Amino acid sequence: MNEVTITVNGVPETHQVEPRMLLVHFLRELCGLTGTNVGCDTTQCGCCTVHLDGRAVKSCTLLAVQADGSEVATIEGLGTSDRLHPMQESFREHHALQCGYCTSGMVMQGIDVVRSGIGHDERAVREALEGNLCRCTGYQNIVDAIMDVARNAPDSCGDGSVR
Ligand code: FES
Ligand code: FES
Repeated sequence: MNEVTITVNGVPETHQVEPRMLLVHFLRELCGLTGTNVGCDTTQCGCCTVHLDGRAVKSCTLLAVQADGSEVATIEGLGTSDRLHPMQESFREHHALQCGYCTSGMVMQGIDVVRSGIGHDERAVREALEGNLCRCTGYQNIVDAIMDVARNAPDSCGDGSVR
């Protein structure tokens, strides 16, 4: 077992983990943060997307020990039900979700897209989403939601981990 400390949504989380534990399981099972979903476990669907030191990563693709000493932001670290993050609000306004299973990953990826400065270019947005699969929406409303934030509230995506 290895002792790992990861700052998750601003709170240090120290746990003993097996070297093979994935970051997504650290978040869900040890931190109790189940907003980050597991869709495939094989780096294909993007449901597990979180921010690691401000950049979007697939948390099923990293070991928890690799994130030791890092800062992680999950969907729980964005808005609250009373005060949604602008990206969450934009997904709501644009009806950019149906079942919602992909949504936490899409929102985290969307923030990274805007933070990267490519949110005004529809083709670039679509390419940036190629690792995030949605089997409900057809993607158009997700693209619209992200581009709306890029137009109207780009600063809200700051370093990708802002509340
Ligand atoms: S669960 Fe991580 S990419 Fe699908
Ligand atoms: S809203 Fe159902 S998978 Fe995206």
